[in-house]
Amino acid sequence: MDKNFYITTPIYYPSAKPHMGHAYSSIIADFFARFKKIDGYDVFFLTGTDEHGLKIQRAAEKKGVEPLEFCDEISQTFKDLSKVLNLTNTDFIRTTEKRHKISVQNLWDQLKKNEDIYLSKYSGWYSISDEAFYSEDEIEEIEGNKRSISSKSSVEWVDEESFFFKLSKWEKPLLNFYDENPNFILPESRKNEVISFVKNGLKDLSVSRKSFSWGIKVPGNEDHVIYVWLDALTNYISALNYPDKKDNLFKKFWPASIHLIGKDILRFHAVYWPAFLMAAKIPLPKKVYGHGWILSGEEKMSKSKGNILDPLEIIKIYGLDPLRYYLIKEVSFGNDGNISKERLEDCINSDLANNYGNLCQRVTTFAIKNCNGKIPNEIDFSEVDLKLLNKFKSNLENLRYKIDNQDINYYINFIVECLFETNKYFNDQEPWKKKDQKIRLNTIVYTTLEVVRKISFMLFPIIPHSALKALKIFNINEEEIIFSTIENHEYLKRGSSINSIDILFKKIEKEND
Ligand code: MSP
Repeated sequence: MDKNFYITTPIYYPSAKPHMGHAYSSIIADFFARFKKIDGYDVFFLTGTDEHGLKIQRAAEKKGVEPLEFCDEISQTFKDLSKVLNLTNTDFIRTTEKRHKISVQNLWDQLKKNEDIYLSKYSGWYSISDEAFYSEDEIEEIEGNKRSISSKSSVEWVDEESFFFKLSKWEKPLLNFYDENPNFILPESRKNEVISFVKNGLKDLSVSRKSFSWGIKVPGNEDHVIYVWLDALTNYISALNYPDKKDNLFKKFWPASIHLIGKDILRFHAVYWPAFLMAAKIPLPKKVYGHGWILSGEEKMSKSKGNILDPLEIIKIYGLDPLRYYLIKEVSFGNDGNISKERLEDCINSDLANNYGNLCQRVTTFAIKNCNGKIPNEIDFSEVDLKLLNKFKSNLENLRYKIDNQDINYYINFIVECLFETNKYFNDQEPWKKKDQKIRLNTIVYTTLEVVRKISFMLFPIIPHSALKALKIFNINEEEIIFSTIENHEYLKRGSSINSIDILFKKIEKEND
C-alpha cells in the first residue's frame, strides 16, 4: 500500500500580511498532515509564497522598493505565521527561488516540445488582483468601471503579443478525466461548476506577458515573462525538485494526494493545472479540494475589502489551540464560515475546558488520590466499560475513511460525543462511592484514563500543544502517538506512574455570565 502522503496549501501572495483566510487553509492542511503522520504515513506538507506577477510588482512600486525586497519582508511574515500556527510543513517554497525557476522553465520547455505553446496576440480583459484573464461574458460594468462578475475585482484591457497554451485541445481529455476520477474535484457542488465551465468550451490560454518584467523569463524569449499562474502552480512539483530525480522526492511524493485550496481558485487548479500536466505528460494530482471562505460579516475577508481579521490578534487573546479547534470544528468544511467571538468562547468553555480539560483533570486527581498515583493494576472490565472502549475500535476504519473523504466534521463530532459519554460514564459510575470495591474503582479509573489517552491521540492533529500537555499524564511524547493504537483497550501500562497536569484551558468569563 502507498504509505506516502503529499498535501499542499495554496502559495500565498505576499502582497500584504497574512489574514485569517490564509491561516484557515494552512491549519486545515496541517490537520490532515498531522493525522496522516500519526497514521503511519510518510508525509510531505508544502506551503509557501507566490511572488511574481503584476500584482506584486505594483504593490512593490507603490511602496517604492524592489519587488524582491518587498517579497522578502512579507514572505517572512508568512513563514513566521507557520511557526505561530504550529504547522508541520516539510518545506516552504518561494517562487523567487532558483530551484523553482529551474522547474518552471523546464515545464515550459516540455510544453513547447510537445507543441502545446504558440506565439500570438492577446486582446482582452485582465484582472491584476486575481491575476486572471476574463472573457467578455465574465465582465460587468458598474458606474463606468469594468469588473469581473465572479470576484468583483476590476479589470483592465490588455493588447499585447503573448504566448498561448493550447488549452482547447485538452477539453475532451479533461472531461474524460473528471468522469473517470469522480473524486478529483471536491466538494461535489464545486465539481459541477468546473465541469460546466469546461463543457462550455475552453479557449487557448495566454501564458506570457510582455508589458512588465517581474517574473520568470520565457526560455528563448526574454521579452516575455511566464504567466504567474503557470509559474505558481508549478510550485507543487518544483518543491519536489522536478525534473531532477536525484533525491527521488518527486518520484516518492508525486502525484500529490491533495491540493487544498480556496474555492475562488478552483478553476486554476482543476482546469489549467491538470491541462498543463497532461500536456507535459506528468501524472495528475489525486484530488483538488476547494474549501469555503472565512467571512467577515457576509463578505469574503480580503485585503482589498479592508475587512480582515488578524490571526495573531485572536491567538494573543485566546491562544492558538482554541483558534485551531474553532476553525476545524465550527466551520463546516467545504462551506463558508464566520468567526464569532461568542462561539469561539463557547467552544473554549464547553468543549475544551469543560468536556476535555475537566475530564483529564478530574480523573488524574482521582487516580493520584485513590490509586497511588499509578495506572491501576487489578482491573476487570464489565459491559459498560467495554461499550465505551469499543467505540474506538469499531470506528477506526470508519474514521480513516472519513478523513480520506475530508469529512473533518465527522471526525471532530465523534470526539465531542466520546468526551460527552465519558464524562457521563465517570459521573454515573461514581468511583468515589466504590472505595470498598477496589477492582471496580480501578476499572473505572483505568477505562477513563484509556479514553483520555485515545481522545488525546485523536485531538493531537487539531490541538497539538494541548493534547501533548494532556499526554504528559502518561509520559507519552509526540513520537509515541500512533492512531491505530486507539483500538487497543489496554495500551496503558498497569502500575506505571501518573503525573498531575496543569489546567489545560482557562474558562472565559463571559460578559453576560
Ligand atoms: N497565489 C494564489 C494561489 C496560488 S496557488 C498555486 C492566491 N493567493 S491568495 O493569497 O490570494 O490566496 C491564497 C488562498 O487563501 C486561496 O486559497 C484563497 O482562497 C484563500 N483565502 C483568501 N481569503 C480567504 C478567506 N477569506 N477565507 C478562506 N480562504 C481564503 O490565490
